[in-house]
Amino acid sequence: MYVCVCKGVTDHQIRREVDDGARSWQDVRDATGCSTQCGKCVCVAKSVTREALSEA
Ligand code: FES
Repeated sequence: MYVCVCKGVTDHQIRREVDDGARSWQDVRDATGCSTQCGKCVCVAKSVTREALSEA
C-alpha cells in the first residue's frame, strides 16, 4: 500500500530500506523522500518503519 502519496512511497519500499541497512526513521526518510512534502503520512510512515526495525 502507499504510505506516502506525495512521494509514491509504499510500505514495501520502507521495509526494503530497512532490509538494506536503514537503522532509523531518518535513514528511511533520507533514502525515500517519504514525508518530505505535505507531511500527512509521517505517523503511518514512522510506525511502518518502527515495525520493520523491530523485525530486523
Ligand atoms: Fe507523504 Fe505528503 S503523503 S509527504
